[in-house]
Amino acid sequence: MTRIGTLASGRGSNFNALVDAWKKGSIPGAEFVVLISDKPGTGALDVARGFGVETVTLSPKDFPSREAQEEAVIAALRDRKVDLVCLAGYMRILGPKFIGAFPGRILNIHPALLPSFPGLHGQKQAVEYGVKVSGATVHFVDAGCDTGPVIIQAAIPVLDDDSEETLAARILKEEHRIYPEAVRLFCRGRLKVSGRHVRITPE
Ligand code: GRF
Repeated sequence: MTRIGTLASGRGSNFNALVDAWKKGSIPGAEFVVLISDKPGTGALDVARGFGVETVTLSPKDFPSREAQEEAVIAALRDRKVDLVCLAGYMRILGPKFIGAFPGRILNIHPALLPSFPGLHGQKQAVEYGVKVSGATVHFVDAGCDTGPVIIQAAIPVLDDDSEETLAARILKEEHRIYPEAVRLFCRGRLKVSGRHVRITPE
């Protein structure tokens, strides 16, 4: 059984897609045990409550430093014996302590085709740059910002009249498809990482 802890700061639509897929039986061998938010009152917390997943709020405001908040998140995950950490719109860069606590066991979803448009507002960056194709990426998290080995990508065309919002809406549909699939593959032990390359082994 892979015990999954999810970190989120926002509306929680990716978390919803993950737990929905799990509840429907599409992520066998997984258990979503906790949703941790760094902000009170986020949509992701409501999603978790709706599914009966435990919620924890650890706001940096309640800690003396950024490091102390991060240590509390690590402790909360360890207390629940979490094997896999899924970032789902978690708006904080993880420090080396966090990465070291869960080596090769942190996933993230990003709304662009990495290594293009890392960081914030990947969809806005794509529209402003004028690319013809963008999409979504699920990747392992390393110490950089959106730099870890790529697991799955989905590409979609950028239309001439796309705004940040219209593009983001189409990318989001792909996010909701590929993130549960990547978690399913992880839980099945089908992701083999060597250096930057992630190979998906046959069933
Ligand atoms: C998504 O666009 C995701 O790619 C990015 O943050 C956003 C989170 O949205 N990392 P939601 O909270 O899952 O709806």
